[in-house]
Amino acid sequence: MPTTLHLLWRTFFLSPTTTRTLTKPITTLRPPTFHLHPQFQPFTTSPISTKMALPKTTPQVSISTTGPPSLLTYTPSSPLPTPPKGHALVRNAFIGINYIDTYFRSGLYPIASFPFVPGREASGVVVAFGPDTSPPSATKDGKGVVEVGSRVAYLHTATYAGHTVVPVEALVPVPDGVGDEVAAASLLQGLTALTLIREAHRVERGDWVLVTAAAGGVGGWLCQLLRAVGARTIAVASSEEKRGLARENGAEVAIGYGEEDREKFVEEVLGITGGEGVAAVFDSVGKATFDSVLKVVRRKGSLISFGNASGAVEGFALGRLGAKNVRLMRPTLFNFIATREELLGYAEELWGFVERGEVKVHIHEIYPLEDVVRATVDIESRKTTGKLLLKP
Ligand SMILES: NC(=O)c1ccc[n+]([C@@H]2O[C@H](COP(=O)([O-])OP(=O)(O)OC[C@H]3O[C@@H](n4cnc5c(N)ncnc54)[C@H](OP(=O)(O)O)[C@@H]3O)[C@@H](O)[C@H]2O)c1
Repeated sequence: MPTTLHLLWRTFFLSPTTTRTLTKPITTLRPPTFHLHPQFQPFTTSPISTKMALPKTTPQVSISTTGPPSLLTYTPSSPLPTPPKGHALVRNAFIGINYIDTYFRSGLYPIASFPFVPGREASGVVVAFGPDTSPPSATKDGKGVVEVGSRVAYLHTATYAGHTVVPVEALVPVPDGVGDEVAAASLLQGLTALTLIREAHRVERGDWVLVTAAAGGVGGWLCQLLRAVGARTIAVASSEEKRGLARENGAEVAIGYGEEDREKFVEEVLGITGGEGVAAVFDSVGKATFDSVLKVVRRKGSLISFGNASGAVEGFALGRLGAKNVRLMRPTLFNFIATREELLGYAEELWGFVERGEVKVHIHEIYPLEDVVRATVDIESRKTTGKLLLKP
């Protein structure tokens, strides 16, 4: 039986097969009247709302059709969205840019209706709850309490905006030791990396693991988390600068893709692993790398194909897995964090890595929201390393 949160993820998040029912533009979520959550009397008790009334407008980025980055349109004063029952209004501090945003904008993943506000991740402050809305449920040990004024991070649609309406069950409290920038930069890419190494393939100390796009957002997290759990990482990245960063992030070896000669890439990895191959590949490049990374998985190892940066993998003959009994998975993050218990459990583990300094969140650049076109061109250029953020 799917949980409420799981249904939300299925409706609003990630999977190309489920996005036909994707978000309505936030302006259509408007109920007839706007209510702040009575429990908190935010204008007298909240540190945020006592100092400022809610604005009538907020900046927003949208597209009216799919296509190139130049279609992204910045509007400085869109009507402030109002949260319906079961939702909160979050004033975004920083907005995370993720490669998946480009799949929706380009048309690779379908969009149900236009205008469409991109974005799937942000940090900020809860400024209001919808009518008759209880704060989100806490875990059994009382964690996950969120009130008006709480600092939160969340994964939800329509984040390229100053304010976003978010289902309360998706709100994740941010601890004092984690700043707003790091919070916005962590949740989607960090939880992806963490769930990949814990559940897609449970990585053991001493395992050889191969990571493609290793200097990117998810790649940076993977290299550092793999170091933290004692794995031996072969990082794959397209430039010497990126390979240097992957080594700094804990990769034992960093190599290129062998773009001229993929067989050489295969020989290189087999050479590093004593001819055996790696226990797991975490590949986000997709179409361009699938065949060569399959060749470097060891017997009974895993090929975890979690992204399509070069295009989707199609037409794969299952029988090829039998040559080495390879496990093949195409995971999406939302299926690992479908319940609030799972979401908060993984988030707490993630914040722990950050607070202990075992993971340093590398921020490539913080772009003003109005520079969204430049930011998008940059992430698609393959020249960025680490996380790109927007600031409303
Ligand atoms: N399954 C999930 O739930 C899930 C969740 C989050 C992210 N993802 C996927 O993880 C991947 C990484 O996401 P991210 O946001 O962290 O992005 P990113 O890695 O920072 O940026 C994409 C990187 O992909 C590499 N790349 C290889 N071929 C490319 C091509 N033809 N065009 C553009 N880039 C290419 C580039 O690194 P090099 O130049 O070093 O090759 C580039 O820097 C994406 O594919 C994303 O869809 C999946």
